[in-house]
Amino acid sequence: MSTGLKNVKRVTTHVLLEMKASGQPIAMLTAYDYSLARLVDGAGVDVILVGDSASNVMAGHETTLPITLDQMIYHASSVVRGSERALIVVDLPFGTYQGNSKGALNSAIRIMKESGAHAVKLEGGREVITSIQRILTAGIPVMGHLGLTPQSIYKFGTYVVRAKEQEEADRLRADAKLLEEAGCFALVLEKIPAALAAEVAASVTIPVIGIGAGNGVDGQVLVLHDMLGINKEFNPRFLRRYADLHEVITGAVAGYVRDVRAKDFPNSEEQY
Ligand code: KIV
Repeated sequence: MSTGLKNVKRVTTHVLLEMKASGQPIAMLTAYDYSLARLVDGAGVDVILVGDSASNVMAGHETTLPITLDQMIYHASSVVRGSERALIVVDLPFGTYQGNSKGALNSAIRIMKESGAHAVKLEGGREVITSIQRILTAGIPVMGHLGLTPQSIYKFGTYVVRAKEQEEADRLRADAKLLEEAGCFALVLEKIPAALAAEVAASVTIPVIGIGAGNGVDGQVLVLHDMLGINKEFNPRFLRRYADLHEVITGAVAGYVRDVRAKDFPNSEEQY
């Protein structure tokens, strides 16, 4: 079977830096499998994030904590096979980089070697800086992630907007600078006030990609299943739905069930 992939130029971390410098917004989406990665890539997304949100939307876990490194590598290698243009960034899952920079480097190397992805992302600021520095020594590009960091949900206790108070906002500003100075090529800011996100984006030279962080940043990211309307229950203010696949898919499956039960499928032209 042909993959149908064409020869196009791959987006690199340098292209993203140029996009920021020239004020060109960056479009990033998650994907976790070959078939949807092909569609996302073909539709022109610049960055595909193989997010640990796979733990929620692919595996049905309540949090992102249970997903393993092997499972992330499985998802990432499927996405790599389905993409030709987008830069592929893979989340380091919970427990594979915190408090152990050697372990972090080994996790990142496994992702790069076994999946063929182009960069890793990890959550946190100063508390994970030695892990970030060590991963960078191997030439592996690192994307940071500040604000709401879902792997710390049991510390926060809730998924509400972060950094509304001065102290947390100041810490986030300082962590963003620290990640830039360490050599991160980009930064995700999740669910923080739009004014703070815009201020951080203006204060660093690396691209800042927002989710629930307003329009003053350098790009946007959404979870694919949320923006396609597959998951009806998740309704945060920041989410714009571009399709209602819940209706489309349940309608199609109900139609199939109806036709099978009525012995209307297959008909004489749908058989040999
Ligand atoms: O795992 C994920 O999908 C993410 C995005 C929400 C940024 O980290």
